[in-house]
Amino acid sequence: MPELIAPHGGRLNERLVTGDAAQALAERARSLKTVTLDARQVTDLELLAVGALSPLDGFMGKADYDRVIDEMHLASGAVWSVPVTLGVPAEEARALVGSEVALVTPDGTPLAVMQVAEAFDADRPREALKVYRTDDMAHPGVEAIFAQGNTLIGGSVQVFALPPDPEFPEYRLTPAQTRAYFEAQGWRTVVGFQTRNPVHRAHEYLQKVALETIDGLLLHPLVGETKEGDIPADVRMRCYRVLLDNYYPKDRVLLSVLPASMRYAGPREAIFHAIMRQNYGCSHFIVGRDHAGVGDYYGTYDAQTIFDELAPGELGITPLKFEHTFFCRACDSMASTRTCPHTSDHHVVLSGTKVRQMLAAGEVPPVEFSRPEVAQVLIDSMRTETASV
Ligand code: ADX
Repeated sequence: MPELIAPHGGRLNERLVTGDAAQALAERARSLKTVTLDARQVTDLELLAVGALSPLDGFMGKADYDRVIDEMHLASGAVWSVPVTLGVPAEEARALVGSEVALVTPDGTPLAVMQVAEAFDADRPREALKVYRTDDMAHPGVEAIFAQGNTLIGGSVQVFALPPDPEFPEYRLTPAQTRAYFEAQGWRTVVGFQTRNPVHRAHEYLQKVALETIDGLLLHPLVGETKEGDIPADVRMRCYRVLLDNYYPKDRVLLSVLPASMRYAGPREAIFHAIMRQNYGCSHFIVGRDHAGVGDYYGTYDAQTIFDELAPGELGITPLKFEHTFFCRACDSMASTRTCPHTSDHHVVLSGTKVRQMLAAGEVPPVEFSRPEVAQVLIDSMRTETASV
């Protein structure tokens, strides 16, 4: 039987150490200086631990940082689109070089040992302009990189404990686990779907069009840090479950979570999202309208055209690009401008703001926009939220 797609760079680089070795490492960490990670860096560390960031073995050094920003490649030559960095207070950085440090959570729980190979200055304005295509501090991803400070340390990590009390433990499958699942199901091709929203009819349509020709779907919501105003992951998980129970074939879909934080880097993040899904075993990846975008920083299809900048074969996973889709009342079906001849007054298109207003008023959006079961979960969650304020 043909094998699943290989991880990016050829093999899963899991940085999690287990058993006696983990105990010994945890013991060693107790005598080391500590570096406290923020919530976003904790999510990056978890991704490194499970191999989702293969081939990376730790936080980036200067050669990778520069080449990723300027050329969208690692120093080794592999495609990479977004820096994965660790900021530390400037006065501490130089003293850490050449030694091991313990990486701890914001509340002091030790998780990993990092071999600090170098300390260097970030160039945040250049990073912002090249990776985020803007230096506007109102952009949540730009704000986050500036908040990390200017002094970075690079080096490999060995993780001896995953972050404690994870959300959705039963859905937190590692790349090795999703791969084992796909193999057990006999899927040769798998399409990954990134989302930070409830799944509405347009999302469902993209997934099902893909499922017409691809063996399995990995519904892979991102559950790390998101910006204020995004729907909390626990509410979204309830939406996904009710949708899958009612409208999807059970043996064609795996729901699992991606413990990454959103960067809102649009096109660059689409490539980053695709690489991670390849590591989880996906052969294909859906990229629709304004993927990972925020506000109006990116053109509707920028996150699709960026894939054309890569040389053929550089990326193993194949992007499945979709036009803006909607329900057309004249076609009486989901459609896009590629398949529908009617004018926009026949199309059910609602802005995020409009949908939020409707839900907050307890109004169910049209069934052509959202499945009623999903809308109900959202209305109930808003009621609970209002009641608890
Ligand atoms: S994202 O930030 O995670 O990209 P979202 O969860 O809304 O946001 O989108 C998930 C995926 O569905 C992305 O690939 C996005 O481009 C795509 N998408 C969302 N809505 C539509 C739509 N109406 N038409 C086409 N693609 C869409």
